[in-house]
Amino acid sequence: MKDIHGERILILDFGSQTTQLIARRVREAKVYCEIHPFNLDIEEIRKMSPKGIIMSGGPASVYDDGSPLIPAAIFDLGIPVLGICYGMQLTAHLLGGRVEKSERREYGPAKLSIIEPGEIFHGLAQSPVTHQVWMSHGDRVEALPEGFISIATSGSSPFAAMRHGTRPIFGVQFHPEVVHSEIGVDIIRNFLFRVCGCEPLWDMRSFVETATKEIRARATGKKVICALSGGVDSTVTALLVNKAIGEDLVCVFVNNGLLRKGEAETVLSFLKGLGLSVHYVDASERFLDRLAGVSEPEKKRKIIGEEFIRIFEEEAGRIGEVHFLAQGTLYPDVIESVSFKGPSAVIKSHHNVGGLPEVMKLKLIEPLRELFKDEVRKVAHELGMPEELIYRHPFPGPGLAIRILGEVTRQRLSILREADAIVIDEMKTSGWYQKVWQSFAVLLPVRTVGVMGDERTYEHVVALRAVDSLDAMTADWTRLPYELMARLSNRVINEVRGVNRVCYDISSKPPATIEWE
Ligand code: XMP
Repeated sequence: MKDIHGERILILDFGSQTTQLIARRVREAKVYCEIHPFNLDIEEIRKMSPKGIIMSGGPASVYDDGSPLIPAAIFDLGIPVLGICYGMQLTAHLLGGRVEKSERREYGPAKLSIIEPGEIFHGLAQSPVTHQVWMSHGDRVEALPEGFISIATSGSSPFAAMRHGTRPIFGVQFHPEVVHSEIGVDIIRNFLFRVCGCEPLWDMRSFVETATKEIRARATGKKVICALSGGVDSTVTALLVNKAIGEDLVCVFVNNGLLRKGEAETVLSFLKGLGLSVHYVDASERFLDRLAGVSEPEKKRKIIGEEFIRIFEEEAGRIGEVHFLAQGTLYPDVIESVSFKGPSAVIKSHHNVGGLPEVMKLKLIEPLRELFKDEVRKVAHELGMPEELIYRHPFPGPGLAIRILGEVTRQRLSILREADAIVIDEMKTSGWYQKVWQSFAVLLPVRTVGVMGDERTYEHVVALRAVDSLDAMTADWTRLPYELMARLSNRVINEVRGVNRVCYDISSKPPATIEWE
């Protein structure tokens, strides 16, 4: 079997919002790639011996104080380089070209005319045909470095793309990684296959084989523990470990009393159906008792996180000696922690299993560390997970506690569970469930006046939230059809005792967040 990591592309991150998209496009072409901070040492790069280097865009100007610069020696490694936007400006700047502030920022769609196929445009129609591409830049290249030629122009730039006459160095001013660049995928594929000579080796079936082999090598004969939530990441992690070492994996599923209606039962039966041996702990009462009287969001999160760790430790104690903790960390979390911008500010503490490894002094098995979410879903397919589990909306670790504003009580939980079940039901029946990133109900601890029959009511408000998002970093509220909203409101008010008003949340993220707490 060929090594699926054998042919890697290195993506140097200069801080663009779309760096991860570049990696997505490369992986979609079945080539393995890694994102690293721009200042990765040249020696390190040489050791990694990538088949090609892509330099991302970024918000800086090459002349700014403290702008991200790299040694020009990167071009002498004999490794093909593609510079995108800032990456192209930097290439021009380092090799003796001239970069200047443009009269006006070019942002949004632009028409690209290819004047020379130059390998990266292979197979694409040349001028006078134009292609829509996406631009987002303030500076632009005004004079090419010696030895370079222009291979495409756009309305406002004679140098929308360039290449070196003899060496494999390319630059594009636009962003081929975004979907609005019609020919973006072709350009990236041409770079990978024609310029770098890569082979399409990266696929999820081979990934499963490689990952299980690695887990087997590390953990055979040792006990591994895994916290399951029923979410796709933790389940796929457990399935991989289970495939590798079978019964030495112990899965723990903790019911924190903050789950949705019928969720514990559904998830358990799914997991058992997948052949996982699951240790079920119903700790609802413990969590709810500790949450009594607490209304501050961060405090609620902290209590839930701590209690979870305590319970998990107790359960691990029952198993005997445990060596490893298997965790569903994904690649975006890994990139985030090595990003040259530093870890982003903590807006909310996300408590799932975050504190476990340090507390329990366990070594980690993180088989999904190099995968993006959609790759994890493909692995899930490979491993026979049912669609219903694969495409479930993300559900936060602290569960319904952060969807009940203020104090979490048993009564409020029961109201929210009913409302939430109606939302999921209607979203699924209408076909909207799969179209949105997340949809759910939030219980507001205020009461409003209504009238039901001939009686005055004074009851709670439920807010509906449905958002579109690619990665939960940013999100916009979903424009659900009015008829669906009407049905949702009608059913929640009629069927859930204690609610007499429904509102729809029309805030985007930022400045709001997806969850209300
Ligand atoms: P926010 O509310 O920060 O949420 O916009 C972004 C995404 O993260 C989920 N979320 C969590 N997931 N543990 C989790 O596993 C948490 O503590 C947590 N808080 C928020 C949220 O549902 C959304 O998908």
